[in-house]
Amino acid sequence: MTATTVITNIGELVTNAPERDGPGRDGFVGDGSAADRLLGIMRDAALVVEGSRIAWVGPAANAPDADEMVDAGGRAVLPGFVDSHSHLVFAGDRALEFAARMAGQPYAAGGIRTTVAATRAATDEQLTAHVARLVQEMTRQGTTTVEIKSGYGLTVHDEARSLAVARQFTDETTFLGAHVVPVEFEDDPAAYVDLVTGPMLAAAAPYARWVDAFCEEGAFDADQARAVLEAGAASGLEGRLHASQLGPGPGVQLAAELGLAAVDHCTYLTDSDVDALRDSGTVATLLPGVEFSTRQPYPDARRLLDAGVAVALASDCNPGSSFTSSVPLCIALAVREMGMTPSEAVRAATYGGARALLRDDVGRLTVGARADLALLDAPSHVHLAYRPGVPLVAGTWIGGRPAWPA
Ligand code: NIG
Ligand code: FE
Repeated sequence: MTATTVITNIGELVTNAPERDGPGRDGFVGDGSAADRLLGIMRDAALVVEGSRIAWVGPAANAPDADEMVDAGGRAVLPGFVDSHSHLVFAGDRALEFAARMAGQPYAAGGIRTTVAATRAATDEQLTAHVARLVQEMTRQGTTTVEIKSGYGLTVHDEARSLAVARQFTDETTFLGAHVVPVEFEDDPAAYVDLVTGPMLAAAAPYARWVDAFCEEGAFDADQARAVLEAGAASGLEGRLHASQLGPGPGVQLAAELGLAAVDHCTYLTDSDVDALRDSGTVATLLPGVEFSTRQPYPDARRLLDAGVAVALASDCNPGSSFTSSVPLCIALAVREMGMTPSEAVRAATYGGARALLRDDVGRLTVGARADLALLDAPSHVHLAYRPGVPLVAGTWIGGRPAWPA
């Protein structure tokens, strides 16, 4: 028989259960506020973990017996964060570029080439050790699912090995050969797109679930991005896209037209972009670490939520535009700078991230879901934004077991 553990004495449990089949039905949803309904909050709750899954959720007073008991001490328990956008496979850092930006230089997509040179020069072992360190940072901050992109190799060999490295840490791997045109193809971008959609895709696809492109001035235009996404789809990869990070562009409409799971950045949107996102159901993934670290204006999350667009929050952890692994920081920024309420931001960083990855087994704490959770040293999820910069994550469980502290 599979071992069971009951986690009891949970002061506030964020389930993200839809109201119709969530805790509200039995009358123990929090205080009935909009925030409590949005997050499916239960107070004085318990949950039972069986193997890697959740087997029972309910009031602590009714909790069944289990092989083991863990006392949450009145803490808040949330679904672990689903960080649906990161670029962890790289070498080197660009701290000087950041410092120059803080002295007034603008951010430009070309900085990616600096990291490409360092990544190509690194060994597999160095890349793996670096990803391990960043994933551990994420785990300590409550992230339980991470998507990792390639995109700093930009040769057939370096893209395939970047994805092979990423695959050691997650199944949510994304082929981003179309990150930027590398220096050696500067005079012939069309030949680079042929490489990406041909031999590079063939080498990368065995290690990837997703295909992505950076559709932006200075990177790839809509026709090139479409070619990459269509070739990826023909190789069995699902599509996602970087768009409207540095200015308005065609990427959001393209993502909506192709029915992609997510389009990421969405910092500069036209009204018709917002309409297209609402109508397609494509998730807008907002990445406030980027605006923090480039001093660009933050995306307007309020406008998207009010229009009925599905929103996710993610770190975009990368050495150029957002070198943070902290989803709690992104939540705090989204609340302070982007018009989100604390409950909307927490929902976007959990349920929203899961939706952006087409996953329904994570981002919620309901019966049958993976037992991936974050215990906060705080009485409620609101503290994630209320106490910015404070390491509130006291424990992270992945697949039914403590991953940190181990
Ligand atoms: O998501 N936008 C493109 N790619 C990264 C930035 C990469 C870099 O500057 O190295 C991003 O922000
Ligand atoms: Fe990115």
